[in-house]
Amino acid sequence: MAEPALFTPLRLRGMTVRNRIVVSPMCQYRADEGRAGDWHVEHHARFALGGVGCAVLEATAVERDGRISEGCLGLWDDAQIDGIRRIVGVYRRQRAAVGIQLSHAGRKGSSASPWDGAGPLATVAPARAWPTVAPSALAHASGWPAPAELPVDAIGRIVASFAAAARRAVEAGVDFIEIHGAHGYLIHSFCSPLANQRTDVYGGSADNRMRFALDVAHAVRAAIPGDMALWYRASCVDEIDGGITLDDTVALARQLKTAGVDLIDCSAGGIQGPVARSARRETPGYQVPYAAQVRRGAGIATMAVGLITEPHHAQRIVADGDADLVALGRELLADPNFVYRAARELGLPEPHAVLPAPYAFFLARRNMHARDVGGKR
Ligand SMILES: Cc1cc2nc3c(=O)[nH]c(=O)nc-3n(C[C@H](O)[C@H](O)[C@H](O)COP(=O)(O)O)c2cc1C
Repeated sequence: MAEPALFTPLRLRGMTVRNRIVVSPMCQYRADEGRAGDWHVEHHARFALGGVGCAVLEATAVERDGRISEGCLGLWDDAQIDGIRRIVGVYRRQRAAVGIQLSHAGRKGSSASPWDGAGPLATVAPARAWPTVAPSALAHASGWPAPAELPVDAIGRIVASFAAAARRAVEAGVDFIEIHGAHGYLIHSFCSPLANQRTDVYGGSADNRMRFALDVAHAVRAAIPGDMALWYRASCVDEIDGGITLDDTVALARQLKTAGVDLIDCSAGGIQGPVARSARRETPGYQVPYAAQVRRGAGIATMAVGLITEPHHAQRIVADGDADLVALGRELLADPNFVYRAARELGLPEPHAVLPAPYAFFLARRNMHARDVGGKR
């Protein structure tokens, strides 16, 4: 029997991912001044031991004021490299690849953690709030403070911060970098006409609006080794009239490819606050069509994400050529052994082999015994 597509390796530049199942980036709100700690190591150990092909570490701020919340990871300082290196080691020891999502929160920064309501810190804890920046001085949602419009020289400084953070990530040992261009954060807000009303070279036409994203992609590409893969998470559509359409994203993906990006991680939404979020329909695989169309339209590898919870569904997405990788977020929180479940449900001859030896050996014996007595593997 041919190996299920979900369990075939994928090569992207110098990196080989052993299967197509990826830990989607997930903020933990547990960093201390941007530094990763024990929680991050323990959190990632669950997935690494579960046999994932690779992981994207959560949104990691390239500048202190680019954090979403006070608990976000950061790589604006060399002192933050060691914490990331510890997480990298967790995946490295299990032969999984690991990358990091570099981010600037823009006008959605300075917010409270989800369990504190995710509102603006300026309202919840004004003394701890910081001023935010954006392409235009338009608040993210009603009740949020207006950001300052970024002058062109400050745009250049943030581009340089992305490159500097990428260099620190390389020093920490990551296999790839993902640029966070989604969910209403700074890069996405430049791309979207709903947030960008500039009249200079960074606003107006579609080409001008994607300039900042491309500047960041070029700068990060130049800062990392030539054989290191570069990914980009896009909000493929804004889901709001007048916002980004899938055609815009296919055009952006083509240009990102030329800038040296190897894979588009296809998400959506986030340009406006609670209104847009609550209007959103989350059905299984709701964003897969974006990954499929970007893949075909731009001729670039893609990753699908969004309520992918069943192994046969994940397998179909890869086998049908809708995406090269599938990212799982909440399902992996619920079941860090998803890869083992998938290996059994898809009928791998030795499903236990996806797990580390101390688990695999005993599960193989248990499975054999269960088969002998007519039970399920
Ligand atoms: C706790 C949590 C934190 C998240 N943090 C990030 C993040 O740091 N960066 C990002 O691009 N998406 C983030 N997301 C979105 C996920 O990566 C993913 O796209 C989304 O949850 C949909 O996938 P799922 O249905 O498999 O969870 C987060 C989601 C959750 C649940």
